[in-house]
Amino acid sequence: MAAGRLVDFIKEPGITRELLGPRNKLILVIGGPDTGKTTLIECIADLLAEHQEVGVVDLDMGQSHIGMPTTIAWGKIKGVFKDWSDIRTEDFYFTGTLSPPGNLVPALVGAKLITEKALFFCQKVIVDTTGLIAEPAGRVLKQYKIDILSPDIILALERAKELGHILDSYTLQKFPLVYRLSVPMQVELKSIAGRAQYRALRFKSYFTNARTHEVSYEDMGIRFTREPIQFSTSELKDTVVSFRDVRNRDLALGIVEGLNVRHKKLVILSPINPDVKFSTLLFGMTKITLQKN
Ligand SMILES: Nc1ncnc2c1ncn2[C@@H]1O[C@H](COP(=O)(O)OP(=O)(O)OP(=O)(O)O)[C@@H](O)[C@H]1O
Ligand SMILES: [Mg+2]
Repeated sequence: MAAGRLVDFIKEPGITRELLGPRNKLILVIGGPDTGKTTLIECIADLLAEHQEVGVVDLDMGQSHIGMPTTIAWGKIKGVFKDWSDIRTEDFYFTGTLSPPGNLVPALVGAKLITEKALFFCQKVIVDTTGLIAEPAGRVLKQYKIDILSPDIILALERAKELGHILDSYTLQKFPLVYRLSVPMQVELKSIAGRAQYRALRFKSYFTNARTHEVSYEDMGIRFTREPIQFSTSELKDTVVSFRDVRNRDLALGIVEGLNVRHKKLVILSPINPDVKFSTLLFGMTKITLQKN
């Protein structure tokens, strides 16, 4: 179904041939907010997954379609793209925030680590990105993302050449192949409230079967994605954290509910399997309160 809409985005058959070409493994999709990036990825995934297993990397830690908000994650599509909710999260990387500004290092490191994992398992990998394109953070992040990920193809969605400050410098380069596409008329704008609601539902669904864990903070490594947070109930309460295993991999997210200084324990709500060994707690900058209904 999604493949039918590919023509809304891509008019030249030459681009479709390049997308299908076996040498072109990594495809990066960029564009400002509400330019159809994720919809274009649905269409390309549909086209490519007919022939092979396709990995999709979701770098949008605010409006995540794979994995939870605050994370970068990837999943596999085989056969045809049906719905984002059908895609299992294979691995995720906790960035600690809902958008990249002020947090470019975790955003870039996560992008590289998760894309590498997807490329190890899949013949084709498509990368979805945030709509951050504005100067200076958007330009810096996108250009360094291109350097470090080294995509074979970049599909750039624009309304009025607004990606020039990011892409004009690639005009004389042979690699990567850069295709600048027009945003289709049908693309709809999302409201800020709608985006916040989407995030709240994603968090709510992730924590549906969560339970409270008492974690001794003296028996584990403590890290912060940015400035260290003072260990007091008021500072820590509602902070999103990630549990890491002994191999430094993110296992599950949690929300700090409280602090028991006398027993040196943190009270954390998380769906983490209590039998899984974790060794480090990584504290992010985002605080959330789960929606009741
Ligand atoms: N070709 C199309 N035909 C009809 N509707 C479309 C088309 N492309 C996008 N849309 C709709 O427009 C909206 C925005 O598209 P989409 O979410 O793909 O944009 P995006 O650039 O990924 O947004 P974000 O900045 O949130 O990441 C969605 O509701 C989507 O269903
Ligand atoms: Mg999107």
